[in-house]
Amino acid sequence: MTALPKWSTARAPAGRITYVNGQYIHHGEASVHVEDRGLQLGDSIYEVCNVSGGTLIDEAPHLDRMERSLREIRMVMPMSREALQLVMREVVRRNRVHHGFIYIQITRGVMRRDHALPAQPLKPGLIISARNVPLSVLDKKLASGVKAITRPDERWARRDIKTTQLLPNALARTDAREAGALEAWLVDADGFITEGAVANAWIVDADGNVVTRALSNDVLPGVTRQVVLQAAEEAQLPVIQRKFTVAEALSAREAFITSSTSTAIGVVEIDGRKIGNGQPGPLTRRIHDLYAKKAGLKSV
Ligand code: PDD
Repeated sequence: MTALPKWSTARAPAGRITYVNGQYIHHGEASVHVEDRGLQLGDSIYEVCNVSGGTLIDEAPHLDRMERSLREIRMVMPMSREALQLVMREVVRRNRVHHGFIYIQITRGVMRRDHALPAQPLKPGLIISARNVPLSVLDKKLASGVKAITRPDERWARRDIKTTQLLPNALARTDAREAGALEAWLVDADGFITEGAVANAWIVDADGNVVTRALSNDVLPGVTRQVVLQAAEEAQLPVIQRKFTVAEALSAREAFITSSTSTAIGVVEIDGRKIGNGQPGPLTRRIHDLYAKKAGLKSV
């Protein structure tokens, strides 16, 4: 028998359970209809929430953003917020997730293929999966930092909506991997960095200010970004929300990314150029610790 590649769903532990449209199903058999609009048109939105010590991290702002994404694509929640939270907890429980993440996707539903939205709302699709990720994976990234490359931002103009239309992000991440890096920082037509392919982008500028792009349709309003901004403000760190260029990033004192799954990790190299001394910087570590405390991350 040929060995299954490490990313194969068929390798999922026998006990892994995924929620699909009202049912808890063995992960290897969890599937959706071929005419689900999420599958055919990318007509769906999603959230990824960190799970730490068995608890959902930043749950309320993730649900707030989910409601907003749905509103922006003319949908409503598939069930009450309270009911959804019950299902989310049940998926975490059934999969015995201690440290890892939960993935929630809401699709517009199933109909005969037609680009225009249905005249009447469909029964939305709801998929919730979760899995453990060893703490050591993140710890290694926190200790050593990660490398990034820059790529043109080729996404659509509504990057503030967390849709599953992620092909440009997927291609940019592949370019990163092929260049020996992890993340791709995406660059707008004027030479300013918008964000990473899967995380918000930050630098510490020449004056020691912590800098990230202000919110607009150009970037995802990251939940981790929001909590980091609050934590930094409470600690009276100098934070500025403004655009920065690739050149400024290359000569920054520090660089880092934030996302639910990566928390705040240092970027130690961009396009093969060392940032600072090539190690995660002191402000990056401080911000990570402030975030971890505020969000309630568990280290065991
Ligand atoms: N990505 N920007 C982009 C393009 C993202 O995909 C993400 C998250 C973020 C950070 O958002 P938050 O702090 O809310 O996780 C910013 C998730 C983790 C993913 O797609 O897996």
